Amino acid sequence: MSASSSLIGAGPSAAALAHIPGDYGAPLIGQTLHFLRDPLAYCRDTEARFGPVSRSHFLFRRRVSLMSAEGNEFVLLDRDQNFSAHHGWHPILGRLFPNGLMLRDGDDHRYQRRLLQPAFRKEALQDYLARMNPRIVAALKQWRTQTDFHFYPAIKRLTLELAAELFLGVELQSEMDRVNRDFVDLVEASAAVIRVPLLGRRYARGLAGRAHLEQFLRERIPARRAGNGSDLFSQMCRAVSETGDRYRDDEIIDHLIFVMMAAHDTTTSALTTIAYALARHPEWQQRLRQQAADFGKATLDHDDLALLTSTDWVLREALRLYPPLTTIMRMALKDCEIHGYAIPAFTSVNVFPIITHRLPRWWNEPETFDPERFSPARAEHKRHPFAWIPFGGGAHMCLGLHFAEMQVKAVLHPLLLAFALETPADYRIPYQLAPIAKPKDGLPMRLRPL
Ligand code: HEM
Repeated sequence: MSASSSLIGAGPSAAALAHIPGDYGAPLIGQTLHFLRDPLAYCRDTEARFGPVSRSHFLFRRRVSLMSAEGNEFVLLDRDQNFSAHHGWHPILGRLFPNGLMLRDGDDHRYQRRLLQPAFRKEALQDYLARMNPRIVAALKQWRTQTDFHFYPAIKRLTLELAAELFLGVELQSEMDRVNRDFVDLVEASAAVIRVPLLGRRYARGLAGRAHLEQFLRERIPARRAGNGSDLFSQMCRAVSETGDRYRDDEIIDHLIFVMMAAHDTTTSALTTIAYALARHPEWQQRLRQQAADFGKATLDHDDLALLTSTDWVLREALRLYPPLTTIMRMALKDCEIHGYAIPAFTSVNVFPIITHRLPRWWNEPETFDPERFSPARAEHKRHPFAWIPFGGGAHMCLGLHFAEMQVKAVLHPLLLAFALETPADYRIPYQLAPIAKPKDGLPMRLRPL
């Protein structure tokens, strides 16, 4: 990978993209600040001015932005193998999440994905659910006693605790705050504008967070190699490849840091949007509560999950309005063409769930929270298979999507049986949409015991 990282220069010349409509913004920095401050406003503005294909300059490179369902399909399905995920993500995540599955391409990606897959099969998920249920119930008991409750930090701790136990076989106790902080710093660093590790700045904090997490995992490798644990960490420590090789320590660490981030930050974002939406739409909150009560039990079994139709629609609608990842990055490695525009090789190309999820061409009243749009009778998401892409698509389609859906349902079930979720009538959630959607104020919320 490292040899080909030389592709990561300035990208194509301005002249090579001159035939594409667009605007490069301010010298050097381009539209980076506009994009990072409010990706939704940035996308709305760009799509309204230039349509589905535009040239732009943000996050340190000239880029082509695709803002259409067809563009999503072209890039994510990548029938002609034009695109590299590695070179798309590397400038942003390369030092923070090196060798994460999402940053791999081709045969290497397929091979590594196959190795991780058993941790996401049905039998594994059944086991995870049985183990996470008592933890969730215990966390809710603790939430009951909290004053000045903020939903986002509370759910983030819970999902991190669950991911650590299920994927690492570690019970986070005294290390909880530190590990949580390290992941926060690591993720925030991916949106750092200054990308040299200056002491005390965001990027340096991210790299320091990564170094702590590496050490945290490295210390535990010998015991995992010798033991017989069933968690992903233990399995990777004992795995032997087709050629008889074992994973090196660094490889295990790189995979696990990426999976741990993916496993808790995105689901935290989704659950936060859902909690807010349910507080704002009490009719949906009551509908989901009734659905939960109809099961007549405190926690869910794996077979129950498929029956939670209304929860499915609410989850999809939350991910439509606020997809945790607002943009997905690739680099074209070959000359290619979309919507009649030629894209030269070595152009960074972005697609944007946040805008295609709101295009009136595919969605009725796209700004409205309306979970029924996903019902079989309306099925707006079936108008184009790539109009709704919170989990991406194609070869890199989210590996944890069933885990995420399961965890959302496992949390909502006892939560809604125990509490009414309330925010003041005039409260509006202040989102920070990049790098992963979250509320700037932590989402203050009243949990009224039922
Ligand atoms: C609502 C929750 C989630 C959302 C919205 C989400 C979103 C995404 C997206 C958009 C991608 C594709 C990125 C690309 O194409 O470049 C992705 C990949 C990935 N996700 Fe998720 N994710 C979620 C939850 C999870 C969970 C819970 C896990 C693990 C337990 C996970 C593990 C992964 C992995 C390993 C990849 C890389 C797949 C590959 O490159 O082959 N995700 N996710």
